[in-house]
Amino acid sequence: MPSLVVVGAQWGDEGKGKVVDLYAESADVVVRYGGGANAGHTLVIGGQQLITHLIPSGVLHAGTHCVLGDGMVIDLNTLVDEIAECKARGLLAGDELLIADRAHVILPYHKRLEAARERRGGAIGTTLRGIGPAYEAKAARRGVRVGDLARPAKLRALVEQNLDELRPLLAHYGEPAPDIDAVVDEALALGESISRYVGVAGAFVDRALADGRNVLFEGAQGALLDLDHGTYPYVTSSTTTAAGAAAGAGIGPTRIDRVVGIAKAYTTRVGGGPFPTELDDEAGAALRQAGGEYGATTGRPRRCGWLDIPALRHAVRINGMDGIALTKLDVLCGLPEVPVCVAYELDGRELDEFPSDAEDLARVTPRYERFAGWTGATRGVGSYDDLPAAARAYVAAVAQRVGVDVYLVSVGPDRHDTFTLRDAF
Ligand code: GDP
Ligand code: IMO
Ligand code: MG
Repeated sequence: MPSLVVVGAQWGDEGKGKVVDLYAESADVVVRYGGGANAGHTLVIGGQQLITHLIPSGVLHAGTHCVLGDGMVIDLNTLVDEIAECKARGLLAGDELLIADRAHVILPYHKRLEAARERRGGAIGTTLRGIGPAYEAKAARRGVRVGDLARPAKLRALVEQNLDELRPLLAHYGEPAPDIDAVVDEALALGESISRYVGVAGAFVDRALADGRNVLFEGAQGALLDLDHGTYPYVTSSTTTAAGAAAGAGIGPTRIDRVVGIAKAYTTRVGGGPFPTELDDEAGAALRQAGGEYGATTGRPRRCGWLDIPALRHAVRINGMDGIALTKLDVLCGLPEVPVCVAYELDGRELDEFPSDAEDLARVTPRYERFAGWTGATRGVGSYDDLPAAARAYVAAVAQRVGVDVYLVSVGPDRHDTFTLRDAF
C-alpha cells in the first residue's frame, strides 16, 4: 500500500499533525498539497512540541522527504523561519526538503488586502495569512510562483501588474500602496535563501510512487472548509479534500490507494460560519479547557461542540474516505453522558443531505443521541481493550453511524497515546 492521504474530516485542527507524524514512521515521502501557513499542525514527542505551518509533519523522521506541493501558497518569511527552527532542532539535517517551483507565493500585499477586507465587515474570520488573495491571484492567472523568484525581470513585471490592479482596491480600504522595489527585493532575497530546495515536486512524487516507495499526503484544514464542498463562504480558498492531493501534488488520482479522515471525538471550529452542534455554554467552555482548544496558528479560542454525524458523513462522501482516525477521545472522559448529533431537521423535516447553503445549515436543529459517559484512565493503558467499555462503545457507535472503519483512536497528544486498530499503509 504505497500511497495514503490523510485529511481533516471536520473544520480543521482534528489532530492531523499528530496522525501524520505517526504514519510518517512508515513513509518515505510526506507531501503537503494545499493551503499554506493558515495550517497549524502540532507534533508532540516525549513532551516536546513542534508546530508546523508549511513543512510537512513528517519532518521529525530523519531521511523522510518533506515536499511542499504545487497546490500550496507559500509565505516565504514563515518558510524560512520554519526551516531555521527545524535545522536548530537537528531536523532536515540531510536537506530532505523539496519546494514545488509551481507553488504560489504569498506577498505582503495579500495579507494587507485580506486584513482590510476582514476589518470591513462580513468577516469570514480568516487566519490573516494572505491565503485568499494569493489563490485569487492564482485563479486570475497573475500569481507569482516559487519558480519566478529566480527570474527577477519576470517577478518585477508580475508584481507591477498585480499592484497596478490592487492599488485602487487597497486605497479603497484606506491602505497605503506597497513599494514595488521593497516587495521585489524582499521576495528575491527570500527566494535566494530557499533556492537549493526548489524543484519539480510532482515529478519527484510520481517517481517515488513508481519506485514503490510509501508516500503520505498530508491534508490541511478540513472537509467543511473545502472551497467547493464546505460551508461556503465560510471556507478556505483551496481544495482540502483527498481529490486535492492529486491536483495539488502533481500526480493522477489513480495513484491514491487509501484515504483516512481525521475526526475529533467532538467538534471544533475557528472563525465564522454555521456550526450546528456548537455549545455556547459551560459545556462548550469545559470542552475548550479539557481539549486545550486554542488555535495553533492564531491562538484564537476554538468554538466547541458535540460530534456531528451528518457533517462527518458528508466529509466521508466528498473524500471517498476508507475510514477515520478518532482523536481526543480522552477529552470526553468524566462526562456523565456524551451527546452526538445523529440527524439534522430543517423546517420540521429530517434532511437527507448536508445542506449546501450556509444559511440553511445555520437554521438546522440537531437531533441528539446520548451515549453513556466514562471515567478512568484512557492514557497509559496497555491496549485498546483496556479502555473503559463505554469509551469503546462510543467509538463503535460513531463508526457505525458514520459508516466507516476506524483506523486508530488517539487519547493524547503524544505519539504513544494511540491505539492502532487497522494498518493504514
Ligand atoms: P491539526 O491542525 O489537525 O494538525 O491539529 P492541531 O495541531 O491544530 O490541533 C490539535 C491539538 O490537539 C494539538 O494541540 C494536539 O497536540 C492535540 N491532540 C492531538 N491528538 C490528541 C488527543 O488524542 N488527545 C488530546 N488531548 N490532544 C490531542
Ligand atoms: P489546520 O490545517 C482550522 C479557517 C479559518 C477561517 C477559514 C478561512 O491547522 O487544520 P483562511 O485563512 O484559510 O482564508 O481562513 O478557514 N482555517 C482553519 N481552521 N484549522 C486550519 O488549519 C485552518 N485553516 C484555515 O479560521 O475560518
Ligand atoms: Mg491546526
